[in-house]
Amino acid sequence: MKLLVTGGAGFIGSAVVRQAIRDGHEVVNFDALTYAACLDNVAEVADAPGYAFEHADIRDRAALDRIFAAHRPDAVMHLAAESHVDRSIDGPGTFIETNVMGTFHLLEAARAYWTARGRPDSFRFHHISTDEVYGSLGPDPETDGQFTEDTPYDPRSPYSASKASSDHLVRAWHETYGLPVVLTNCSNNYGPFHFPEKLVPVVILRALAGEPIPVYGRGENVRDWLYVEDHADALLTVVQRGAVGRSYNIGGENEARNIDLVRNICKILDAKRTKNTSYSQQITFVEDRPGHDLRYAIDPGRIATELGWRPSVTLEQGLEKTVDWYLENEDWWRALQAREGVGRRLGTGG
Ligand SMILES: NC(=O)c1ccc[n+]([C@@H]2O[C@H](COP(=O)([O-])OP(=O)(O)OC[C@H]3O[C@@H](n4cnc5c(N)ncnc54)[C@H](O)[C@@H]3O)[C@@H](O)[C@H]2O)c1
Repeated sequence: MKLLVTGGAGFIGSAVVRQAIRDGHEVVNFDALTYAACLDNVAEVADAPGYAFEHADIRDRAALDRIFAAHRPDAVMHLAAESHVDRSIDGPGTFIETNVMGTFHLLEAARAYWTARGRPDSFRFHHISTDEVYGSLGPDPETDGQFTEDTPYDPRSPYSASKASSDHLVRAWHETYGLPVVLTNCSNNYGPFHFPEKLVPVVILRALAGEPIPVYGRGENVRDWLYVEDHADALLTVVQRGAVGRSYNIGGENEARNIDLVRNICKILDAKRTKNTSYSQQITFVEDRPGHDLRYAIDPGRIATELGWRPSVTLEQGLEKTVDWYLENEDWWRALQAREGVGRRLGTGG
């Protein structure tokens, strides 16, 4: 398949690009190269014959039309977005422009291209979204349950509201114009090439630097953690075999409280980079994020039963692979630490 991947220089998009090329697909990586992008993430496939890069913005309709016409993709995998909740609290405008308006322009460009080609049933517009659109669950897995694809939307941050909006647009383009879409909503990703402002790399890098490891509130927020390469595998499964008009929740089957996740990373580091005291002594509780959702949990039943997909690693295995990667790739993360906002407390709402 020829895949047009938006956001392919970001964390998850680059994992999709790398795996798609390994699987023998052709890939057009379409990315505006914002602060969150890094072309080193796709360096291993940059010279592959099936790979092309387009430096462009999804808000630019003329660029979209040109790129669709030039590359004639079989499917769009739409990952380009502003993705950091804390940044959405400080500056929600870009989130609305990129995640809502950008998705609108991409849908319109895809619809024009698909229509011009005779509306082929085989075309796919795959929208990649988040479990955060469902809002927050109560603390108890037994009584408070998990998100299913039928859970009503209840986004609570500017980021999740912008992603919920884009999900609604994608469904509307299917119902109204017949565009063959599939949607996925996934839980928190972690793994190699994760931008150093997100929780898992922050913990690893602060620990290694001997600095305080910040944990919001009391660390009781629960997330389901998905290894990024498992996510890429799930996305490539859905774009090829997902039913048109259908949504799939993707989770790692790994629910953990933030504080337990952080202690787990410290334990792995204690074993790999031993020092006199445990890294867990650097843990420092800081003022919570405003509107911090308590718990997200994914019921992954649909993708498991209908498409036969399950995650391949446990949280312990995935974290160990991730810590190893950061220990081996210091040049990559040191360069990104110099970017605007990284290392500073963002999203206090002040
Ligand atoms: N990271 C997670 O845990 C997670 C979980 C669920 C869903 N998602 C979703 O997955 C997608 C990818 O997330 P990520 O963590 O890889 O994000 P990221 O921030 O690492 O990467 C986003 C990429 O999109 C590009 N981009 C941003 N605005 C653009 C624009 N206007 N035009 C073209 N490109 C643009 C950036 O340059 C960057 O390369 C997002 O849609 C996000 O909402 C992420």
